Amino acid sequence: PTRVVDGAVVDTLARLQQLAATLGATDALDSLPQIVVLGSQSAGKSSTIESLVGLSFLPRGTGIVTRCPLLLHLRPRDTGPADYGVFGHGGGAPISDMEAIRAEIEAQTARLAGDEKDICATPIVLRLHVAGAPSLTLVDLPGVTRVPVRGQPDDIGEKIKRLCQQFARNPRAVLLCVSAANADLATSEALVLAREVDRAGDRTIGVLTKTDLMDPGTDCASILRNEVFPLRLGYVAVVCRGQRDLDEGGTVAAAQSRERTFFANHEVYGAPRHRELLERSCGIAVLAQKLSALLVAATREAAPHLRQACRARLDQVESRAAQLGEEDSTGDPARVVLEAVLLYAKTYATLARDGAVGDARWL
Ligand code: GDP
Ligand code: NA
Ligand code: MG
Repeated sequence: PTRVVDGAVVDTLARLQQLAATLGATDALDSLPQIVVLGSQSAGKSSTIESLVGLSFLPRGTGIVTRCPLLLHLRPRDTGPADYGVFGHGGGAPISDMEAIRAEIEAQTARLAGDEKDICATPIVLRLHVAGAPSLTLVDLPGVTRVPVRGQPDDIGEKIKRLCQQFARNPRAVLLCVSAANADLATSEALVLAREVDRAGDRTIGVLTKTDLMDPGTDCASILRNEVFPLRLGYVAVVCRGQRDLDEGGTVAAAQSRERTFFANHEVYGAPRHRELLERSCGIAVLAQKLSALLVAATREAAPHLRQACRARLDQVESRAAQLGEEDSTGDPARVVLEAVLLYAKTYATLARDGAVGDARWL
């Protein structure tokens, strides 16, 4: 299935992140972007995340299902036969059964937010190791609602809004504003919220889900052409798995292939005269490409931070090495020297190999 970003970007990102990890430069890592998913309840936020990741592991459904923020740290998988997840809570044991991951998200949601319909600001943290995945963070959030449903506190709307704003304000966050294509875009709380925190629209992408559920004879071409509620980065229409696909246990890959067929055969999106629309604005693969471009830009911006972290780390190693000359027999000097040399060699090798951010001349 389509992954969040394409191969070349994955390689560059993975090498950069490895470099950052080698240097202990977690600040530089933090500065790589989060993808924050905003939208009203049941707009298809969780479905869009699953489609981007290419795996089915999130609780989804028609009610308020996502009731805590889910920080999904996507990581490449280096070893082992299968993709797996590790939760930030509990013992941290790897789980490769995606159904078990879904069940645990549901259980932890109930522990944090109660069995009812209330929400909770405490995030569930899930590290998901997926073959070929880049290291990035996706944030799934409860849907923005205005009207509380039965069993919800009166201030639920405000609470959810505050929670979403908290994540959306991060200037490094790319905002995926998910709206159902069969609902009125003018009522999209997500777009209103995004505009509040990203006035220039530099980091907001519109996603129209449920394109397959639009009334016959209607389409969202004018929104995709940016004629309705213009966004600088534009819109992408997608088709995720419907409730029936979920009930029947259809895979994400099968849904992606149905999505391609849907758009290609559609009388509007698939028409030869609208070719540009199809290529630029339709399908999860197009959304993945748009995210790639943003990630590349963000990665470029992170390079100076990495360079700085590298310099600082080398200074540390050098002063430690200098200190060693003055130290007498406390500790095991041979070992400290060895560690310093190994660290230096590792840093040097990583930099020299990594053409993406420059070369060893930094040293
Ligand atoms: P969320 O509350 O925004 O996270 O929405 P979910 O991802 O849980 O989706 C809500 C419901 O809409 C589920 O039953 C999904 O199967 C369904 N759904 C989401 N996207 C699509 C789509 O593109 N087409 C169809 N037919 N159903 C969808
Ligand atoms: Na839902
Ligand atoms: Mg959800």
